[in-house]
Amino acid sequence: MANVAVLGYGTIGAGVVKVLQTNEAVITKRIGEKVEVKRILDLRDFPGDPNEDKVVHDYAVIENDPDIDVVVECMGGVNPAYKFVKAALLQGRSVATSNKELVASHGAELIAIAAEKEINFLFEASVGGGIPIIRPMISGLSADEIESVRGILNGTTNYMLTRMEEAGISFDEALREAQEKGYAELHPEADVDGYDACRKIAILTSIACEAQVDYEDIYTEGISRITTEDISYARIMKKKIKLLGSSWKEDGHVFAMVAPFLLDEDHPLSGVNDVFNAIFVHGNMVSDLMFYGKGAGSLPTASAVANDVLDCVKNKGRNIKICWDPEKVELTDCSDSVRRFFVRMTADTSDEAIGASFGQVEKVELPGLDEKAFITPAMKEADYTRTAEQLEGIINRIRLD
Ligand code: HSE
Repeated sequence: MANVAVLGYGTIGAGVVKVLQTNEAVITKRIGEKVEVKRILDLRDFPGDPNEDKVVHDYAVIENDPDIDVVVECMGGVNPAYKFVKAALLQGRSVATSNKELVASHGAELIAIAAEKEINFLFEASVGGGIPIIRPMISGLSADEIESVRGILNGTTNYMLTRMEEAGISFDEALREAQEKGYAELHPEADVDGYDACRKIAILTSIACEAQVDYEDIYTEGISRITTEDISYARIMKKKIKLLGSSWKEDGHVFAMVAPFLLDEDHPLSGVNDVFNAIFVHGNMVSDLMFYGKGAGSLPTASAVANDVLDCVKNKGRNIKICWDPEKVELTDCSDSVRRFFVRMTADTSDEAIGASFGQVEKVELPGLDEKAFITPAMKEADYTRTAEQLEGIINRIRLD
């Protein structure tokens, strides 16, 4: 029998306990031994919960319990999760985590400790919720050079954009709904300002580069400036607004960014709605792959964590190799990237000024709204920024794919 300790009995931690207990019979059959949740760490008590007798409030109880084989970390945030996870690994216990902040900040170090101790540090659920994406990248694509990764990596903002578009509800209402469904982070800005997607693309890019990509180096823009008017313009242009995390390698340089994009309606990512995530991976041999599934929520995310727990049990005494060196990847600034921009300006902006600044633009009109809107010709990010800084009256701008 393998004994598990779960750190954090919130949305994901409770989900992991539920998955392991609900599917106990089939899990035992598949891996050849029973996996038992022995202890749960949380600051709260859970009177009436079927697992209430397993709840402890002090990590030392778990640390000092010699029967624990695998530690599941679902606390979120870097501290104290980092301290507990590192201690568990140093004790020779494998760890499965859903915590993207922890993995993005300390992944390389924790992977190295696990390799040294011949145990495992697995983090499938840290990106894409229930979608298997880390495992395919580290083992299914070992014969490929991964050249780019691009996708919808945040379920909350995708849910919000879908609801704003389909139900016509406001940004705040959509956020409230996402929070009620258990998709959102504790602090809403982590989702809406793109920080969550930023950590996830940092993790995927670190795996693609097999070295440390610091999330602080990634240009990040969220959806907090997206309004119902932007959604209406997108509809008129037969496009969808999606928050994308992207990274790509080009001539020896590595680029990464998170930002909302306008995608054509028939783009495969345009059909990815609600809490679903989708990730395109391009390998130099396999070409394009797309991974799709629920990117947030208790059971989808817990399913990925539980699968990591089972891999830890199945691979007792054997490290599953993950190439992620601590050596830092220097990202190249995205300002040389070339693309078109959708721009909204106040009605008093003259067509001459727009033409003089951006050249031949494509006008877009939203009936009933007194402003100027247009799509620029393809231009470098840096040129757009320089031009926009010299103009007054810009209401919003969104990149086109
Ligand atoms: N808040 C995250 C999201 C949870 O909405 O995608 C899953 O990482």
